[in-house]
Amino acid sequence: MQLQLTSPLDMHLHLRENSMLQNVAPLSSKTFSGALIMPNTLPPITTKEMLLAYKKEILEATKEDNFTPYMTLFFSSSYDYNFLKSLKDDLLAIKLYPAGITTNSEGGVAEFNIEQLRPTLEAMSALDIPLCIHGESSGFVMDREAEFIPIYKELASAFPNLKIIMEHITTAAATKALLEHKNLYATITLHHLYTTLDDLAGGMLQPHLFCKPIAKRPEDREALLNLALNAHPKVMFGSDSAPHPKSAKEAPGCAAGVFTAPIALQALAELFEKYNKLDNLQTFVSDNAQKIYKITPPKKEVVLVKKEFRVPKSYGDVVPFLANQTLRWSIQ
Ligand code: NCD
Ligand code: ZN
Repeated sequence: MQLQLTSPLDMHLHLRENSMLQNVAPLSSKTFSGALIMPNTLPPITTKEMLLAYKKEILEATKEDNFTPYMTLFFSSSYDYNFLKSLKDDLLAIKLYPAGITTNSEGGVAEFNIEQLRPTLEAMSALDIPLCIHGESSGFVMDREAEFIPIYKELASAFPNLKIIMEHITTAAATKALLEHKNLYATITLHHLYTTLDDLAGGMLQPHLFCKPIAKRPEDREALLNLALNAHPKVMFGSDSAPHPKSAKEAPGCAAGVFTAPIALQALAELFEKYNKLDNLQTFVSDNAQKIYKITPPKKEVVLVKKEFRVPKSYGDVVPFLANQTLRWSIQ
């Protein structure tokens, strides 16, 4: 049995820099035709020079493959129309982080004051640059996404022509808000389709499942599955694959991030097959993103075969999601 995917896309990917990038970027470019590259590097990507240099580094590391890195800039309310216009051809979206909410987000937005954000968001709207948001408050960890929903709604109403992507949604509440506003879209990760808080902390603590936003309740996972498995046109695959060295994960202060990129398509095939929804996988991993972002990625045919694949215990010094487990699908 075979499954052919055309131009799979990963619309939320962390590649880091230097040796980590050299290790992980080829693992994405091997099976994906393009990816939206997150800007929370050290320091974050905030200028045209940084963005172009980062793109060059990624292209160099992935030169064996036909792979498009779709670049993003780290949001700042100091960006004006002329600056964004000069960058329009080099980026696909801008990523907004609340200050300090996750890895390398200290320079993010400290306060959501619409009037303060207005000039930049109006410029993005006019230039048709989507805004990707890590939507979490700084409240109690299980409630952070739900507490952010009023901000999503306020932004969606105040900037009706701005495309807003709710990144890595994890709750039934977020899926509801998503459907209520025409300019809201969302990415869904692999690990939030597979896990709940129980998998992370219900037994012995599993550091390699720890990420932001943290996996939630079974009914939340059901709501995500319902959208992803049916390839709802407002959702697309975004792995949020976020590599950290083993020493940063298996540590008293565990870094947030789950590394899924090299096993994502195999694990998605397994999940979609389990629910008898394999026919929708192409739409979820590529077609929806092409429509939402108006992109035409390089043509790449990826064939998955029904052959057991044992997930490696590590890729370099990074431990992947489902390490040492056996999946039913492999990449041909
Ligand atoms: C991401 C990272 O490590 O860069 N971590 C994570 O837990 N998802 C950042 C992010 O997307 O929140
Ligand atoms: Zn992320």
